[in-house]
Amino acid sequence: MGPTSSSDHSFQDNPDAVLTHISDLHFSSHAADTSSNPIWRKLGMAPHEFNLSINLGARIELLRKRYTDRFFVVATGDLTTKADEDAFRLVNNYLRTKFFITSETSFGLNCNKNLLIVPGNHDKWFDTPLFALNKAELGKEMFYYSMIPQLPTAVYRRIGSRDFVFFLLNSNKVSARWNRLLLNSKNVTGRGQVGHYQLGLLRMYAGQARAGSLPGMPADFSYENSIRVALLHHHMVALSPKNQSMLIDAVEVKACFFEIGIQLVLAGHEHYPYHSIVQNNSDEMFFSCAGSATQIGERINSFKVYSFNGNQMRMIQYEARIPDNKWQFEEEPASMVQWTF
Ligand SMILES: [Fe+2]
Repeated sequence: MGPTSSSDHSFQDNPDAVLTHISDLHFSSHAADTSSNPIWRKLGMAPHEFNLSINLGARIELLRKRYTDRFFVVATGDLTTKADEDAFRLVNNYLRTKFFITSETSFGLNCNKNLLIVPGNHDKWFDTPLFALNKAELGKEMFYYSMIPQLPTAVYRRIGSRDFVFFLLNSNKVSARWNRLLLNSKNVTGRGQVGHYQLGLLRMYAGQARAGSLPGMPADFSYENSIRVALLHHHMVALSPKNQSMLIDAVEVKACFFEIGIQLVLAGHEHYPYHSIVQNNSDEMFFSCAGSATQIGERINSFKVYSFNGNQMRMIQYEARIPDNKWQFEEEPASMVQWTF
């Protein structure tokens, strides 16, 4: 068990399923405001790079055409920077046209057949204490809830020849925001929390999945043979010992994930790609942060692709490098890791 690096960057010729992971797109209708303002940049509000999102769409379209019904996209939050309606419309249009998402809904960022989305802290601006002081921001909470369905939830998807169970969480801390504002002014915007309520529901959904009773599950569904994936924006594995933006309840989240048999945890939030094998006795979980695909101002932009074959998973990382990049993701993957689950 465990990861192995390889110089062979090619995909398996015939994977069972292919999962593309994008995160922190940070669409913004206020790019001009943020790019010129050093305070915004200090707060991590560097603008979305539209040329990069066009290129990302082209790269992913190639994958989609190659893998057709074995292909799937997950987006782990921060679709927008300021959760404004214009930015939501931009990203919605982008996902539907660039990714050729055959929407089963008429409008909105609702999860559908080929795409699953969880929100990030920037998609729910109301929860950022700095801006909660602005009463004009209050209305955005309603808009947010109209765009992204209530979480947590668990969904079954057949991708290629594999059964997947996705557990979707809202890791934006939604309670005690005033406490955070008054008592903990440090890192208030970066911390997330899943909370006992969601973890309890997650255990319930896992029970339903084990019983084969989630919508769409076939009669012969086997939880043990399925690939169990958790999607959330914030992370429960630190990028470095000094990293202070990890989930407040990372310990509880990890324990719950092991308990319900999660194998792969996909997250965003840190605008830098990294991964870690999380161990608990003989159990292992693969944690992966995609980095930011299209918000500029970082060392690199990145997205990831996971291909599955039997009990083998390959994580392939694509990068667009700053400062010499031409807003293009390299055609060749930057790195690859193989993991046995
Ligand atoms: Fe972000």
